[in-house]
Amino acid sequence: MPVELFDIQTPLRPLRQEILDRLAEVVEESRFILGPNVAAFEQEFAAYLGAEHAVGVANGTEAITIALRAMGVGPGDEVIVPSFTFYASAEAVPPTGATPVFCDIDLDTLCVTADTVRAAITPATKAVIAVHLFGNVAAIRDIEALGIPVLEDAAQAAGSTSGAGRPGALGTAATFSFFPSKNLGCFGDGGAITTNDAELADRIRMLRFHGSRDKVSYQQIGYNSRLDEMQAAILRVLLPHLDGWSAGRSAAAAHYAAAGLGDLVTLPAAARDATPAWHLYVIRSEGSDELAAALREAGIACAPYYRTPIHRQPAMAAYAPAQPLPATEEAARTHLAIPMSAVLAAEQAEEVTAAVRAARGGGLIPPQRAAAAASAR
Ligand SMILES: Cc1ncc(COP(=O)(O)O)c(C=O)c1O
Repeated sequence: MPVELFDIQTPLRPLRQEILDRLAEVVEESRFILGPNVAAFEQEFAAYLGAEHAVGVANGTEAITIALRAMGVGPGDEVIVPSFTFYASAEAVPPTGATPVFCDIDLDTLCVTADTVRAAITPATKAVIAVHLFGNVAAIRDIEALGIPVLEDAAQAAGSTSGAGRPGALGTAATFSFFPSKNLGCFGDGGAITTNDAELADRIRMLRFHGSRDKVSYQQIGYNSRLDEMQAAILRVLLPHLDGWSAGRSAAAAHYAAAGLGDLVTLPAAARDATPAWHLYVIRSEGSDELAAALREAGIACAPYYRTPIHRQPAMAAYAPAQPLPATEEAARTHLAIPMSAVLAAEQAEEVTAAVRAARGGGLIPPQRAAAAASAR
């Protein structure tokens, strides 16, 4: 039985008619740019997260650039960012004029921590981008205690929760992507920035609209970066289902654990107090490329997402850190995303686990070093 890496279609199928009806209303109303659905979605999304303000923007990458600029980041500043994340987390920094400074991650949670951030602080540090990677929840309060404003990159963490609140309501500001495969994905590109700070929200609204409040006076060099009205209408249909889908993702993780996958590879670990809505289910194993080949042979889709960490990407050569990032390198080498979705069934998790077991039993992948790595910390 082949198993896909993710399943976008099944959760959306029962909502198809409702979505088409909402889109027909948008066409009928013809207020295509910053219309009533964008305004309503912004309110609904902020309320869902427990944040005061949400501002819809064009995508999750521009969301980071705009949020940083609204936070006062500019030329001469440094922004600390993990290297083990999607490229856009760091790519969004240079357009502000600031320099990305790469920090390491915690190998268990694959997120930045106060310790990994502290090692990258200099007098020029203006902000930290804390990525809630794969749906896990970075320890924002601990990082804030270092005295540096934190921008949460919550692109992969819509639907996750933590004792301190939801990603999106924890830092100075937070950014989201509604790329179709995300936990809350629209039918094209889309993004949002959230914050509890009214003045920050005002600057973000201005920046997404050419640096203007009224299209008469232009206060700043801004962006044309708005969430599309059609996408907002779709997101309004989807948002009430996000918690149910997140529960489905947690159930999928439980299916893997029950199938015994944790005896074969290192499973993702939820951060303290966190209930992750796993966006991707990323295991770690020695011989991860050999494991990937064996899984594909068995019809199981899988992908190493960040085999080359960002600080070693050609475009980032100018920002390569002086110090090594050992946990980043280890995660880059050993990680592999295996099937995960809101509707992944126990039988599918068993199928994937059986294929991993066969690869290990057949000697295709070497034994785990996870226990040794954990005890060395
Ligand atoms: C962690 C992270 N940050 C930023 C982005 C950028 O979002 P977008 O593709 O909407 O620009 C993504 C996803 O694509 C992401 O996964």
